[in-house]
Amino acid sequence: MQAEQRIDFASLIEQDRSERQKLEWQGSFLDYLDLVKAKPELAELAHRRLHDMIAGPGVRDLDLESEPRAKRVFGDEPVKIYDFFKDEFFGMERTLEKIARYFHSAAMGGEESRQVLYLMGPVGSGKSSLVERLKRGLEELPPIYVIDGCPIYEQPLHLIPRHLRPAFEEMLGVRIEGDLCPACRWRLKEEFNGRYENVPVRTVNFSKRARRGIGVVPPVDPNNQDTSVLIGSEDISKLDRYSEGDPRVLELNGAFNVGNRGMVEFIEVFKNETEYLHTMITATQEKFVPAPGRHGTIYVDSCIVAHSNEAEWQKFKADHTNEAILDRIVVVKVPYNLRLSEEVKIYQKFLKRSKFEARIAPHTLEVASMFAILSRLEPTPKCDLVTKLKIYNGEEVLEKGRPKKLTVHELRDDAKREGLFGVSTRFIMKALDTALTQNNGSIHPINVREALIGMVKEADLADDVRKHQLEFLQDTLHKIYLELLEKDITKAFVYSFQGQAETLFQNYLDHAEAYVTKTKVKDPVTKDEMQPDEAFLKSIEEQIAIIGPAADGFRQEVIAYLWSATRRGESVSYSSYEPLKEAIEKKLMNSVRDISRIITKARTRDEQQRQKYDAMVENLIGQGYNEDSIDTILKYASNHLWKD
Ligand SMILES: Nc1ncnc2c1ncn2[C@@H]1O[C@H](COP(=O)(O)OP(=O)(O)OP(=O)(O)O)[C@@H](O)[C@H]1O
Ligand SMILES: [Mg+2]
Repeated sequence: MQAEQRIDFASLIEQDRSERQKLEWQGSFLDYLDLVKAKPELAELAHRRLHDMIAGPGVRDLDLESEPRAKRVFGDEPVKIYDFFKDEFFGMERTLEKIARYFHSAAMGGEESRQVLYLMGPVGSGKSSLVERLKRGLEELPPIYVIDGCPIYEQPLHLIPRHLRPAFEEMLGVRIEGDLCPACRWRLKEEFNGRYENVPVRTVNFSKRARRGIGVVPPVDPNNQDTSVLIGSEDISKLDRYSEGDPRVLELNGAFNVGNRGMVEFIEVFKNETEYLHTMITATQEKFVPAPGRHGTIYVDSCIVAHSNEAEWQKFKADHTNEAILDRIVVVKVPYNLRLSEEVKIYQKFLKRSKFEARIAPHTLEVASMFAILSRLEPTPKCDLVTKLKIYNGEEVLEKGRPKKLTVHELRDDAKREGLFGVSTRFIMKALDTALTQNNGSIHPINVREALIGMVKEADLADDVRKHQLEFLQDTLHKIYLELLEKDITKAFVYSFQGQAETLFQNYLDHAEAYVTKTKVKDPVTKDEMQPDEAFLKSIEEQIAIIGPAADGFRQEVIAYLWSATRRGESVSYSSYEPLKEAIEKKLMNSVRDISRIITKARTRDEQQRQKYDAMVENLIGQGYNEDSIDTILKYASNHLWKD
């Protein structure tokens, strides 16, 4: 038997327990005052808590100068990266910044602390996941201090009577906001004879499941809207036991009660009756909610985060009677991601979490992600959609051998609703799931594309949208995938692809430089001087359609690039100058096209061909292809790539 490392579960459990116990605390209100004196942050309000939670793990500026790709995506506007969100959310930097900014100004106690944070975006854009992350963040925080036995986990400083507040605020160096809840008020009087210094205080952790500091309001059946979901109720069975006005009948278990000190989430918020929304607005704006029955009001301190899709938002916004509510909402759009590199990460995250031991052929997630993003783009007269996708992805796009001068900003400015429509992340995940299930966990662009085509055909879509999406899948992506595939196969055929590409690159530079400076090329071995080989230069340039008089300009640009790179002390390689990289790869691809075609297509192969074929398969596996899908992929290549 293999020697497995033994895990000492007992000591792990014990260690965890003792660490948690260290954070636990119980004492009287008098003791608590000493704690607050030492740690004034104990008096902080919910928005500050959430702000610190988000900023705490670290925030940094994305280094746009050393990352040319990011620079092309974001332009000159700085981008903040929040570690709190980093590993789970992709391509939504601007949205996260806005959320963080909301919490920042709310933490400062400004107007935003009295407004609802509302996330608006299309289905599957990550709204619920964002709120889940916030809730999980609260659960990971150290415990907070509450009045022991308070149904709404009240801040103990509320015990200090009004007339003493200024003095205590001064002594403790904190601000005290809010009043005792009816339940605590009653206990203070009846149980403690008004001696608030004796009231017990203890720590509690936030918990979604136990409804401590985290309240959730799902959309409620409109025929059955009962505010008890929000503010609790009176326990009817106790009504005859206690006199009128006795708060012991109160069940303070509404979302606003339990969400005190933390947050309250409103799912699909505008599906609720306006009465609900008014309670929500009062809770944020005035920081109180009515107590059930005749028990006055209850102070609450909570971040209210609501979300819904755009259709609901538009409907709500169109109704003028809702103006008062609209004025108290901070809208943060959560659009779909439009960056290919980031979309791929969403599905990597998804696959990592799924139970499948997925074997994923190269380009699978890329092709699926391209489909998602293409469906989300608005057409523009400035370029085709694939070009737009590449520009949004920060890629350098070539046009007649030169980088295309078209920026993300320009394209973005023209688009109106981009990111708010198109295929959702969930749609793609379902397609991946289907392909995984049908193919025993082995997926490649071919079977994922099939799954997507099937789903699009069945989906409830407008005819033109369906047509559009099928075109992407059956035509655009089919071609793009074949190009990617041909490049992989070429690489697998060309012995030492990288090395050969570098050699071509160096030769090109030598000859182009001599051509531009009207000098000669020195043979590295014989030291003979010779004229620059124009035929060779042309054979590279024609790969990217640079012919005739355009060649001179192109050679000068290459050399200018080379010189400025050398001046900056950068080492250049074949992949550093995009136009030349593409030309060189195409040149290599053409040089082996015939042989790849013959060998891949052949029904029977002679000994020599078989060896070449096997070596190519081996190389593809080295590139990340899996044995169980490689036959399918090569058959696909030979059927589609090299038509006879
Ligand atoms: N930009 C993104 N980065 C990381 N994951 C994402 C992103 N967008 C969506 N997802 C993932 O997609 C899935 C669906 O997201 P979620 O349920 O949060 O969407 P939603 O906006 O609440 O949708 P709905 O309106 O249908 O409720 C989740 O697994 C989420 O993590
Ligand atoms: Mg949701």
